Amino acid sequence: MSLADLIGKLRSDFLEELKAAVSSKDLESLKVKYLGKKGPVANLMLELKGCTQDERPHLGKLINDLKEELASHCENSIARLKSEELQSQFAREWLDATLPGRKRPLGRLHPVTQMLQKVIDLFIGMGFSVQYGPDVDTDYYNFEGLNFPPDHPARDMQDTFYLNHNFLLRTHTSNVQVHAMESHQPPIRIIAPGRCFRNENISARSHVFFHQVEGVYIDQNVTFADLLATFQEFLSKLFGEKVETRFRPSYFPFVEPGLEIDVRCTRCKGAGCRICKHSGWLEILGAGMVHPNVLRKGNIDPEVYSGYAWGMGIERLAINFFDIPDIRMFTENDLRFLEQF
Ligand code: PHE
Repeated sequence: MSLADLIGKLRSDFLEELKAAVSSKDLESLKVKYLGKKGPVANLMLELKGCTQDERPHLGKLINDLKEELASHCENSIARLKSEELQSQFAREWLDATLPGRKRPLGRLHPVTQMLQKVIDLFIGMGFSVQYGPDVDTDYYNFEGLNFPPDHPARDMQDTFYLNHNFLLRTHTSNVQVHAMESHQPPIRIIAPGRCFRNENISARSHVFFHQVEGVYIDQNVTFADLLATFQEFLSKLFGEKVETRFRPSYFPFVEPGLEIDVRCTRCKGAGCRICKHSGWLEILGAGMVHPNVLRKGNIDPEVYSGYAWGMGIERLAINFFDIPDIRMFTENDLRFLEQF
């Protein structure tokens, strides 16, 4: 084969292989294969030495043209394929930086939890410490230790969920009073937040479960005046000076004397609504001086010590504090309601 034919064959071989190349990598190796130092084009240059002086300029030019042609084919195709490859990479990694970000909903504390924390904070500020008691307790701690004799009608005041003849769901947090006196000698100054359960009809103002914050203060010379002062202080701190309160005598077997403390219904401002049973007042806590029988059962000498105790309904307080029309909203888990707090 003459050198001119070789040149032609090399050219067509190259063009064949060029057609088959699909990636910029294929092309890089094609370029090395044909145009590399020991490749066929370089070899043609060596062949040139065997040619006559006359042929040389012509053939030399042919080889150089071939070299340039192959090189420019390679460069063009490499550039084209590289840009195609980049395009498809962009398509795969597509991202719209102008899209709005994903919204991460922010959690918040349930209004009952917020109310609990406010109350707890205020009493801690007044020198009380927090003690927790069991939700499931025995008849003794929920009733008997609190001066409810067996079969005493006062037990009917609180419709109880019994688990068996002895265990029950506590109907109030007052069980913690009994636990506290059993394990500590005075001075005792604790609050006991927790959940309580009563087998009652569910309505706008009462539920089968709810929260209370119990409190007990037992020491020498604790008087009824201390109790009143504590609540005047607590309620004015909680509501600001504005709230109107009412202290009225009441009965609980474990206190003597006993009272209930009401606040003006903020919902109807006293005009009467279904939250306050049209009385204009919301009963938020029961309280009183700890009954001597309760102290005795707790091994505390009533001749030496006296104390006061209270139990406060947190949902009742919260409907007033946050101006909520119905106590059932707390347990319906409706986000439109919960997101307002
Ligand atoms: N335990 C009573 C109730 O749930 C409230 C109370 C507590 C009253 C302590 C007096 C003293 O109604």
